Amino acid sequence: MDFRIRSGTPDDALCISALATQTFLDTYATEGIRPDLAREVFSLCSASAFAAHLHEPQTVFLLAEQGEHLLGFAQLSTAISKAGDTGHQGCELVRLYVQPNQKRRGVGRALMQVAAQRSRIAGADTVWLTAWAENHRARAFYTAIGYQDVGELPYVWEDKVYENRVFVQAL
Ligand SMILES: CC(C)(COP(=O)(O)OP(=O)(O)OC[C@H]1O[C@@H](n2cnc3c(N)ncnc32)[C@H](O)[C@@H]1OP(=O)(O)O)[C@@H](O)C(=O)NCCC(=O)NCCS
Repeated sequence: MDFRIRSGTPDDALCISALATQTFLDTYATEGIRPDLAREVFSLCSASAFAAHLHEPQTVFLLAEQGEHLLGFAQLSTAISKAGDTGHQGCELVRLYVQPNQKRRGVGRALMQVAAQRSRIAGADTVWLTAWAENHRARAFYTAIGYQDVGELPYVWEDKVYENRVFVQAL
């Protein structure tokens, strides 16, 4: 592994925001940009939004870096929460973004391994997450690293409802 993983601090908000913006648009703006998507990315992926998350006591950011470059990050909630109506609960992996240029070199897998360790330390026996049903790349990735699709949990942004799948892994 030629990159390292460390915990994020509020000083990392700017680079996390830039990487998240690029990766979000690469993943979700597959047919071009719409106003609702533009509002979503500038709202959820702004530096101020991430600075606020980086201050939350029950949120952990894991950053994969090589030299001075951020390659990807994971955002984990260490609070135990319910995975929708699936009957599962545990720590939620809120975001996992690997920069498009850095895909398929093991960054996502390594971030998920550390996220699982942090979840165990937090007392969880499960990690859960949601993935957009049309995000076939992410679904293949989660299946490849041992996650199971256990149901759906719709995601609502403005007046649109998106089908999200729920994935879980026992620790
Ligand atoms: C999904 C994502 C996190 C995967 O990260 P990654 O660093 O590229 O994945 P890894 O290199 O660790 O891959 C581990 C294994 O997952 C599987 N995998 C990863 N990407 C895959 C793809 N596009 N298609 C099929 N299998 C894939 C493979 O089995 C891979 O092992 P291999 O490369 O030895 O064959 C990354 O593509 C990403 O950030 N995508 C955009 C944002 C996103 O969709 N995040 C998840 C939202 S729920």
